[in-house]
Amino acid sequence: MKKLNIGLYGFGVVGQGLYVVLQKSKTVDAKILSVCVKHDKERKISRELLTRDQNKILNDPAINVVVELIDDAEEAYHIVKKALLNGKDVVSGNKKMLAAHLEELIQIQKESGRSLLYDASACGSIPIIRNLEEYYDNDLLNSITGILNGSSNYILTQIFKRNKDYSSALKEAQELGFAESNPNLDINGSDSLYKLVIITTHAFGLLVSPDEIFRFGIDKIQNFDVQFAKEKGLKIKLVAKVMKTETGEVSLFVAPSFVRKEEYIFNVEEEYNGVVIEGEFYEKQFMFGKGAGAFPTGSAVLSDITALSHNYKYEYKKQKYFKRPAFTNSVSLTFYLRYNRKDDLRYFDFEEVYEQYTGRGSNYVIGKINLEKLIKIKDVLPGLPVFLGVM
Ligand code: HSE
Repeated sequence: MKKLNIGLYGFGVVGQGLYVVLQKSKTVDAKILSVCVKHDKERKISRELLTRDQNKILNDPAINVVVELIDDAEEAYHIVKKALLNGKDVVSGNKKMLAAHLEELIQIQKESGRSLLYDASACGSIPIIRNLEEYYDNDLLNSITGILNGSSNYILTQIFKRNKDYSSALKEAQELGFAESNPNLDINGSDSLYKLVIITTHAFGLLVSPDEIFRFGIDKIQNFDVQFAKEKGLKIKLVAKVMKTETGEVSLFVAPSFVRKEEYIFNVEEEYNGVVIEGEFYEKQFMFGKGAGAFPTGSAVLSDITALSHNYKYEYKKQKYFKRPAFTNSVSLTFYLRYNRKDDLRYFDFEEVYEQYTGRGSNYVIGKINLEKLIKIKDVLPGLPVFLGVM
């Protein structure tokens, strides 16, 4: 087993979680030699370990592993890239950075012979990436459906189970250390989307840019939508999905979804995540675990560190497949659209309408819309006072 000398970037929620978890681990021979932080303040760590000079870790020949747990995606990209080029193995938890730069970072790994691991970046403590990489190495995977964001799931749970209001639930998610520094990323579906992009690379060998994928968050949910779901015995969950279409292509989306009690993710509550993997011959499998928080995510980072001590690398096996599926947005899904201003309906091009309701304040339509049509209005959609949910 390799001896690991770690240079850590970031000492926020996850960095502190890792520090504690690492001290408890008896199996890995790893030591944190230096911690790079942005601000000079009192921390629960020896001052001697702290530095504010980013290059100190990158240029230290004694450090053979860089663990990157900072917020800023662009800074993280430069750190990770330089670390690999300087001959260090890297663990990163930065899903936004990874979703944007994975293609280049895969190439740098190949050329440098180093390893970049990031199981901690998707679904917190659930080991989804290594499983997709190692176990599901066939093309018989049909879909992956998941609750990939702990904060939004926590908020929806408080609304549905405890009748709390949206803003106090969001505040709690922030106080508990589940939310990103910019919580908009959690509630507008971006965080789930970045994770879905990473998962898709390891599930289907495809690198899809987040900009090409339909995303809708939970930030515009209203009591009317919650009541609609409750009356039908449904829950609303923020779901991320990648699925093979009937024509063998692959389609992705992130959107609130009305979930039936028969579905595995119905009982995924609080900050937990859940992932359903569907295959041609094994029907469904389900992975469940804490998706956010200091120790669950710190444990996932530790697991990546341990994997490095065994010289583990992602092989990106599915990228080598002779026939990789193509990405498409040409797929129609059944949506619930709640709108308050009748005029806003004109933006939505329904192929078929199954149900329509007109009330005093809130109205809805249930019908089929093609994702290509929704992608076309992605710049106006955030400004419209409407709520979309997949039925
Ligand atoms: N903000 C993220 C979440 C943290 O709530 O899921 C874990 O990636």
